[in-house]
Amino acid sequence: MKRRGFIKKGLLWASYVLGSAVFAYPALSFMSFRKITKRKVVFRPDEQQSTVNLKEGIYLTKEGDDFCALSARCTHLGCTLNYDIVSRRFNCPCHGSIFDLSGKWLSGPAKKNLDRILLTKKANGDVEVVVEI
Ligand code: FES
Repeated sequence: MKRRGFIKKGLLWASYVLGSAVFAYPALSFMSFRKITKRKVVFRPDEQQSTVNLKEGIYLTKEGDDFCALSARCTHLGCTLNYDIVSRRFNCPCHGSIFDLSGKWLSGPAKKNLDRILLTKKANGDVEVVVEI
């Protein structure tokens, strides 16, 4: 192999390696370095008085003695939902999706129910919700 051909091949291989690294790095870093953190939200008994209570992006709904924790993020594009006390529904101010009190999707572009979050009722009356971010 002549010197010129050797250099050409070397540069070609170097560009392949560099190009692959440029395209692969974002995908690999997203998959391998995703850090999952947990956040605890506690609803004290005085914060459970209403049928629907909002705290730190979590809606705690109450029907009788049963509690349900729902994400306050719309499943369409992530806007924060508002609770309408008259219609007893969650309304999205961005594109108009509507969810019922149990988080079930009723209308609008969202198409998915609200995310339910596991909760724990403590002996002192606190309701603890652990959210993964
Ligand atoms: S973000 Fe809620 S409907 Fe689009």
